[in-house]
Formats: sequence, C-alpha cells, structure tokens
Amino acid sequence: MTPYGFDAGAWQESWDRQQEAYLPDREERFTALLNTVAATADGPAPAVLDLAGGTGSISLRVLRRFPHATTTLLDLDPVLLTIARESLDERSTVVTADLRDPNWAAGLPRRDYDAVLTATALHWIAPDRLTALYAEIRQVLRPGGVFVNADEMADDGLPELTTRLGDVNRARREARYTAGAVLSWQAWWDHVATDPLLGPLVEQRRKVFAEHHGTDWTPPVSWHLDTLRGAGYTQAGLVWRGGRDAAVAAVR
Ligand SMILES: C[S@@+](CC[C@H](N)C(=O)[O-])C[C@H]1O[C@@H](n2cnc3c(N)ncnc32)[C@H](O)[C@@H]1O
Repeated sequence: MTPYGFDAGAWQESWDRQQEAYLPDREERFTALLNTVAATADGPAPAVLDLAGGTGSISLRVLRRFPHATTTLLDLDPVLLTIARESLDERSTVVTADLRDPNWAAGLPRRDYDAVLTATALHWIAPDRLTALYAEIRQVLRPGGVFVNADEMADDGLPELTTRLGDVNRARREARYTAGAVLSWQAWWDHVATDPLLGPLVEQRRKVFAEHHGTDWTPPVSWHLDTLRGAGYTQAGLVWRGGRDAAVAAVR
C-alpha cells in the first residue's frame, strides 16, 4: 500500500469481481490460457505478452504459476495501467500503446515471445484492423510460440442457442446487480472516479477513448480460425469454450 492509502491489491480484486459478473467462468478461461503456455513453453521461464492486459489480471496469474516467467503488459487505459504498474513487480514491463495503431509493437522490449495472451479485449478492434493485428502478433512470437485470444466468439453451429446462453448470462448478471452482490461496469467506473489517485485519470481516460466506441464486433469462431490461418500461423484451433465465449490458439 502507498503512503496515501492506494492499495493496488484491493483494486485488483474489485476489477476481478466486476469482470466475473460478465464472465462467471473467467478463471476457467485463464487456466486454459496458462495451460497453453505450459504446453508450448520450452523452459521454466516463458516470456509472455499480455495484450490489452488492463489491470494485469493475466500477468499476475502467469507469474503466480510460472515464477521465473517475465511478462510485458500492453494497454492504453491510463487508469487500468496505473493499477497494473502498482501491482506488478520487476518481472513485468508495462507498455502504453494503442492496438489500432499499426506501430503498436514499437515499444515492446522483445520480439520473440513464447506466448501472446489476450482476453475480453479484441472485440473492440474493427474487422480490417483485427485481421492485420493477427498477422502483426505473429511477428512478435518466436517460431513455435503461441497466441491465444479468449473473447466472445459464437460456435457457428449453434447461433440461436448461443444467443440464448447470452440471455441467461445477462439475466444472472442483472440479478446480482439488483441484489448489490457486485458492481456493474458503470458503477465500478463511478467508484474509481472517487479515488484520490485514480480519479484524476478518469478524465484522461475519457479523452483516450473519445473516438473508441461502437466497435463491438464479435464474429463467430470460424472467422477467427480462418483469419489466423490466413495470417500464416501453422496451426489454429480452440483450446477452450464456455457458452458464447471461446479461446482460439494459433502457433507460429
Ligand atoms: C475488459 S478489459 C480486459 C482486460 C484484461 N485482459 C482482463 O481480462 O482483465 C479490455 C481491455 O482492452 C483494452 N483495450 C481496448 N482497446 C484497446 C486498444 N486499442 N489498444 C490497447 N488496449 C485496448 C482496455 O483498455 C482494457 O484494458
């Protein structure tokens, strides 16, 4: 905890609870990501890029499971990056970059990652840009390295059931908000605005995201697999599915 009372661990916990309201199986998908790292790493010290890593939830889990690992967390949100910087130790590097910018990788400390992991983020990137990004991510992996993206991506064979599964999830979430069991996305951000350290960064965040809304693009899993194969990955497939969401993995 800092002298002015900022407790990164407490903010970390509150972010995780808020995200779990959307993704009740969030830990399960994270375990699938880490299992994929374990299955492809060529030693006990994997180098992992945590793309759009937010507060550092994935980096922290990587470092807990692989204590000799190093991570690079990349994001553009000044609030979440502050929580990440206060949470992570010398095994992690934190980079500010915008994945909409083709030069996003310029500030990375290396270009030979064992794994690039991302969760619940790339649906904010427009289709043409995401197609290019998949190829750019391949360029920062070592040969044999793996990229895993966990996000909303319906099973092509179950379009109607996938919609209904989403409805079930939403109803459960709304019930928890109504009961006061957890903060909603908006309530969490309202709470952040009251914090002496994070609050002033909320206005900065508003400017960063001013032109960054409306692109909630969630194609089915076949789009991701076709695009990954088109980007030159040698193998691409599913490593996890839970309702509407899935994790696709692709090997360089
Ligand atoms: C729902 S959060 C998920 C964060 C983290 N992966 C997790 O699971 O807790 C989505 C993240 O994507 C980041 N993000 C969105 N658009 C981005 C962009 N264009 N460049 C970099 N990060 C971006 C946001 O700042 C946010 O941290």
